[in-house]
Amino acid sequence: MTYRHAELSSATRAADYPGCMSHAIVIEETGGPEVMQWREVEQPVPGPGELLVETGAAGVNFIDTYLRTGTYRAPLPFTPGKEGAGRVVAVGSDVTEFAPGDRVAWAMGDGGYAEHVVVPVRLAVRVPDGISDEQAAAALLQGMTAHFLAHSIVQLDAGDIVLLHAGAGGVGLLLTQLLTHRGIRVLTTVSTPQKADLSRSAGAEDVIVGYDRFEERVRELTDGQGARVVFDGVGRDTFDRSLDAVRSRGTMVLFGAASGPVPPVDPQTLAAKGSLMLTRPSLNDFIADRAELDYRATDIFTAISSGELDVRIGATYPMPEAARAHGDLEARRTTGKVLLTI
Ligand SMILES: NC(=O)c1ccc[n+]([C@@H]2O[C@H](COP(=O)([O-])OP(=O)(O)OC[C@H]3O[C@@H](n4cnc5c(N)ncnc54)[C@H](OP(=O)(O)O)[C@@H]3O)[C@@H](O)[C@H]2O)c1
Repeated sequence: MTYRHAELSSATRAADYPGCMSHAIVIEETGGPEVMQWREVEQPVPGPGELLVETGAAGVNFIDTYLRTGTYRAPLPFTPGKEGAGRVVAVGSDVTEFAPGDRVAWAMGDGGYAEHVVVPVRLAVRVPDGISDEQAAAALLQGMTAHFLAHSIVQLDAGDIVLLHAGAGGVGLLLTQLLTHRGIRVLTTVSTPQKADLSRSAGAEDVIVGYDRFEERVRELTDGQGARVVFDGVGRDTFDRSLDAVRSRGTMVLFGAASGPVPPVDPQTLAAKGSLMLTRPSLNDFIADRAELDYRATDIFTAISSGELDVRIGATYPMPEAARAHGDLEARRTTGKVLLTI
């Protein structure tokens, strides 16, 4: 049996091009990493406003695990993968911005764990010469997330102290660099001494190894004040204690749920803990139009090209072994970016 990509628009069914086959990871039912199967599929076809891209590298992101397990819902069957980079091989009838042969990358698309991916033009950015597909696929989603967290949530000034959980993770290493380059002092948490070394090498000033009583340690490191901002992508296991690590009138930024979703919060808690602000931002809202997408992607690619931003690719797996990549990510065995290559 062959499968179509669930996210193709009705105008662009692969059935219009019988006989063109490709390969993709397919999830027929939600569950553990083993539900991801490498299958022969019909090659998708770009419709209006879309590109067909031959994948060079696909990024693995924690959101892919939420969709695979059913924590976030996607229509079944589907191909996971929010991010990738590669070469345009065909364009939809009305597309003028890109042409076959162009190198592009994208984030917050669908169906990225595949040899061929249909990418909406509104999500595609050009990859500059000198940046490989691997670097582009490693940098875009987590890099633009780090970018909006660093620049577009709270006004932060040199000398401000922030706490960032999972400092050796994909977002963690990039966000640490973006903040410390501006003179912001970054405290991080990590689970192992090896991860601590990595976090320090990205610029973290103090690294808390293990999450036990991290909130007390942050108070000690800030003269009892607490952090101006806490960036928490861990979620359920850290959220309550993260609020205790924020200083009075500071900001709690919950941006993910690596340990599981946070239960509902009573707003009175924010008053009791010092008139805190709480936000739960999503990248989609910070690449809302072409100008904002280009601004963030250009900043990230320029920082990579100049050597200011080091994108650490912690592990690369052959795409058919995506299950192994998810298993390692969820078991906290990875650092930096996790990639799939064909
Ligand atoms: N809001 C947005 O738009 C947006 C965009 C991108 C990513 N995110 C979020 O950002 C967070 C980081 O994403 P990422 O892709 O860069 O992942 P990552 O940080 O590379 O991996 C997750 C890390 O979380 C830590 N962690 C703590 N408790 C964990 C648990 N119970 N299970 C698994 N990991 C645990 C681990 O680091 P230690 O071993 O050091 O604890 C692990 O390496 C995720 O929550 C993701 O959903 C949000």
